[in-house]
Amino acid sequence: MDQPAGSADSKGPELGPDEMLPGIGWPADDDIFTNNFRFGDLADWNRAAVAIHEERDGFYRIDRKGFPPVLAILDHAAVLEIERQPDLFTNGPAPVLTTQAALDTPPLVELKTLIHMDGDEHAAYRKLGLPQFKPASLSRLEGRLDELSERALTTMRNADGEIDFSNEVALPYPLHVILEILGLPEADYPRMMTLTQQLFGGEDPDLQREELTPEAIAAVLMDFFTYFNDITTDRRKQPTDDLASLIANGTIGVDPLGDLETMGYYVIVATAGHDTTSSAMAGGFRALIEHPDQLRLLQERPELMNNAIEEMLRWTAPVRHFMRTTTADTDVNGHRLAAGDLVYLSYKGANLDPKVFADPLRFDIERPNADRQISFGFGKHFCMGAQLARMELRSLFSRIVPMLESVEMAGTPTTSQTTFVGGHKSLPIRYSLRDN
Ligand code: HEM
Repeated sequence: MDQPAGSADSKGPELGPDEMLPGIGWPADDDIFTNNFRFGDLADWNRAAVAIHEERDGFYRIDRKGFPPVLAILDHAAVLEIERQPDLFTNGPAPVLTTQAALDTPPLVELKTLIHMDGDEHAAYRKLGLPQFKPASLSRLEGRLDELSERALTTMRNADGEIDFSNEVALPYPLHVILEILGLPEADYPRMMTLTQQLFGGEDPDLQREELTPEAIAAVLMDFFTYFNDITTDRRKQPTDDLASLIANGTIGVDPLGDLETMGYYVIVATAGHDTTSSAMAGGFRALIEHPDQLRLLQERPELMNNAIEEMLRWTAPVRHFMRTTTADTDVNGHRLAAGDLVYLSYKGANLDPKVFADPLRFDIERPNADRQISFGFGKHFCMGAQLARMELRSLFSRIVPMLESVEMAGTPTTSQTTFVGGHKSLPIRYSLRDN
């Protein structure tokens, strides 16, 4: 998923990672939503989210200097209710948490993707790419996924017992899948890797290419544009059955896609399917390592795999939020909103709602309602790649989990300090594998 040009970060947070406060006892000018550094310690973030459920019924009014007023919603039922009313709660004009300054300044490069669209326009653009994500198209990918899972296992064998699972396994895997769907050559892999990481990692000091200025964001997007312009020209000359051909030759009604919308489509698919899935892979694997009883259970009862994947998705919630803007005065569970007000849908927080998930801070692959996790959102914008992501996770873990003789952490994992999409920056592990 793309980081829209000019979107939020909380540069220069008032609290550093060492000063995080437990629960919701943070100072008035800090919160777990706008302060990207708070995502550097996910366990702390989760505890704070549960405290909001227990002490504030799952709602939190964000009132932080430099940000517009926003109602953050962690209540599971309320998130679903809002997603059911896309005309009252629109994606445009600010689908992702944005600073007031960025809201007030038009971005240098305007990008329009599915997540910026509403109503008929959204429906028409969504329909265009949908065939690639239908079961018939996805089942053609099974073989490729198994090949990539085998490759991941070989990478682990060759690493001789110690590896950074996040960078060596979880990051490359979904990117290869995206290249396959778009129909791009493996040789373009390094370029795509850098671009998607920079778009998403914008706020994280280790991932950003330079200060997150409007110029820097524009530079990342221009790289994407140049690259995909060449692809579009090629597919217009020689269409194939890949997604790039659908996009390059697509029409909305009788008109071809506009240039910005064409680019937006490539960008949303390239970014939405990459860091999200790799975050679920690394975070899911870490959860298994940190809960050895659950790993053992999965090895003994492989039929739990699908449920284990739902629990991993609940646990990791790689897309931390999306925003909506109200089109009329309304209220949500008694919280009054005027037309034009912003709400923050906290998928991560909703997955920890104790009213839905008993003992939410427990990782439990037998959780009876793990599939009520809402990491893929809901409604008209429901993730187009949800089934694909599940297939990738299932293929990878079905290959790796049975082969593990032992596994433990070989260092301290790090997580990305970003407010939108993110997971692990590193997951150093030590392990031994069975022969076959
Ligand atoms: C674990 C992995 C993934 C997670 C957690 C995830 C999560 C999400 C979420 C939360 C949304 C917004 C839903 C809403 O507003 O209700 C979304 C939208 C989207 N996702 Fe994913 N996603 C994942 C993987 C993928 C993959 C693999 C692809 C494609 C290759 C993909 C493509 C998209 C697209 C195109 C949209 C925009 C849909 C729209 O606005 O109509 N995602 N995703």
